[in-house]
Amino acid sequence: MSEATPTVRVDIDEGLATITIDRPDKLNALNSDTITQLGHAVARVAADEAVRGVIVTGAGTKAFVAGADIGELSTQNQITGKARAMRGQAVFRRLERCGKPIVAAVNGFALGGGCELAMACHLRVASEHAKFGQPEVKLGIGPGYGGTVRLARLIGKGRALDLLLTARMVGAEEALQMGLVNRVVPADKLMDESEQLLRGILANGPLAVRLCIEAVDAGLEMSLDEALLLEANHFGLLSSTDDMREGMAAFLEKRPASFRGR
Ligand code: COA
Repeated sequence: MSEATPTVRVDIDEGLATITIDRPDKLNALNSDTITQLGHAVARVAADEAVRGVIVTGAGTKAFVAGADIGELSTQNQITGKARAMRGQAVFRRLERCGKPIVAAVNGFALGGGCELAMACHLRVASEHAKFGQPEVKLGIGPGYGGTVRLARLIGKGRALDLLLTARMVGAEEALQMGLVNRVVPADKLMDESEQLLRGILANGPLAVRLCIEAVDAGLEMSLDEALLLEANHFGLLSSTDDMREGMAAFLEKRPASFRGR
């Protein structure tokens, strides 16, 4: 398949970009061309100043993303396998660090690379019929797009190893209990609820939101004292912004704040 076949769509509406993985006949499985297109989509929403938040979803009602494309994986070797993993990891990491809040609207199967893509987003809203899992060991391979890394950080080592070693799928409610998703909603409300969640976040101070994401992302890799220092530095930095003055004045004057991101 050439890059001329679009398998990733970007729709922008009132400051919010929706990235849709669009290969429904293959349950939105991530072949290498789709990873390339996802990389372009991420670069586009990151660079567009009019985009303040991002939703990632899958086309159709059956799958968010059913994993990396197994047809392609089946032909890889040690060199190309590592290269595939590093390429996908880099795209997901750029998404995670694009500086804007990202919500995964999980509309069905989120398996392997699909679960990994959802975890690279900052928050996850699942439809009631969504299913999550890291089934790679069933195929004699392990996760390559950050599954062993983000799953353990998100839900803890014990629960992560349960999913990774058994390859079992969990439904939306169990994923909610595990902390793998943040909200479960009826399928027909998924996009509305995801947008509402994101628009609520976008009503907050944008610099503060951005620095919260950065502090959690970087802080998890630091010692307690380093992470606390980073938090204090951000606290100080935000204290120099117009947004902080506006947010506090709005509270004291009992009116909604109008943030300008500076
Ligand atoms: N890679 C490539 N193709 C995939 C795919 C993947 N990860 N997941 C699904 N597909 C394709 C199927 O081959 C099928 O294509 P076809 O119609 O040309 O035969 C199509 O998508 C529909 O999938 P199908 O398996 O028929 O649907 P189902 O409802 O019976 O089962 C799943 C759904 C998700 C349980 C099943 O597709 C599955 O197990 N997929 C693989 C999940 C996985 O292991 N992901 C991790 C990869 S590392």
